Amino acid sequence: MSLTYPLTRNPQPKTPDQVASVLADPGFGNYFTDHMAVATWTADAGWTDSEIRPYGPFHIDPAGAVLHYGQEIFEGLKAYRHADGSIHLFRPEANARRLQTSAARMMLPSLEIEDFFTAVTELVTVDAHWVPDAEGEKSLYLRPFMFADEVFLGVRAAQRVTFSVIASPSGPYFAGGVKPVDIWVTDSYARAGAGGTGAAKCGGNYAASLIAQYEGYQHGCSQVLFIEASGKDRVEELGGMNVFLVTADGTLITPALTGTILEGVTRSSVLTLAGELGLTTEERQVTPDELFTGIREGRITEAFSCGTAAVVTPIGSFRTAEGEWRLPENGLPATLAIRNAILDIQYGRVADTRGWMR
Ligand code: COI
Repeated sequence: MSLTYPLTRNPQPKTPDQVASVLADPGFGNYFTDHMAVATWTADAGWTDSEIRPYGPFHIDPAGAVLHYGQEIFEGLKAYRHADGSIHLFRPEANARRLQTSAARMMLPSLEIEDFFTAVTELVTVDAHWVPDAEGEKSLYLRPFMFADEVFLGVRAAQRVTFSVIASPSGPYFAGGVKPVDIWVTDSYARAGAGGTGAAKCGGNYAASLIAQYEGYQHGCSQVLFIEASGKDRVEELGGMNVFLVTADGTLITPALTGTILEGVTRSSVLTLAGELGLTTEERQVTPDELFTGIREGRITEAFSCGTAAVVTPIGSFRTAEGEWRLPENGLPATLAIRNAILDIQYGRVADTRGWMR
């Protein structure tokens, strides 16, 4: 299947002044470009009706399956403007593959990598003037997503599904940029358990994280860290990003992919880049006790969150109802080295020796 996405231009796009004013200070996820990519799948006809059309609401029937059973998945990737004005995507095939994995878990149809890539590149091409310059670490955040819109109240996989891509010019996810964020470690709520949907990028995982995230806000934290549901003996991931710990001897540790953690594209890129920066890596189980005593006894010297939106954001402390474990203020040598290495590739400041940019 090779979907084409013909362009419909109506209504009029935003004026250059309106675009410039948004790009000056976009924040994260607040504004959307003039167009969106859309394609429809039915069990009978497969993927059809692909187009780039003006950004606007979907008409969803009140009995549309996604509104009742949450059969929905999404992705996040970014388009970066390089100094010569050209625009590049970071590892889009990895996002396309993960969408397929999420689709399989959520009984949604598979979209071919090429069709994902065409949707994203056609949208970025028509809305290229919405891609900000690198200054202030801005980019065009792309949100591909798929949802069940069959009109039917029975609980079964929908026979009609919509795939779409929208684009949002964005600055850093955390307003403070590289300022360390404080993390609430919840033991009241879990994000995922064995056999659940933790490894799928589905809206339900994020909906389930909101109450714990809110608990975190009430304790002055910007994100929440989840512990595995059944044994509570495994550090898992944050509400919307993966977590890394750095030890005093220069080892990067991140929880292993056990089926309950999202396989982050940034996570895998960090693991690849770490070796080249002289850091060793370990993907393994981390217990909450290892995290807390490691910080208290000086073995864990840095920690950071990572994801497409967050890039690499340092963590200042972990907090629970029992206390606070604060990371030392050591200038964040490993975190900043990793962060700069990834941003240098994304913004084209160094050669892309791995062929990650498209
Ligand atoms: C991303 O990093 O792309 C995500 O989907 C996470 C969300 C917190 C914005």
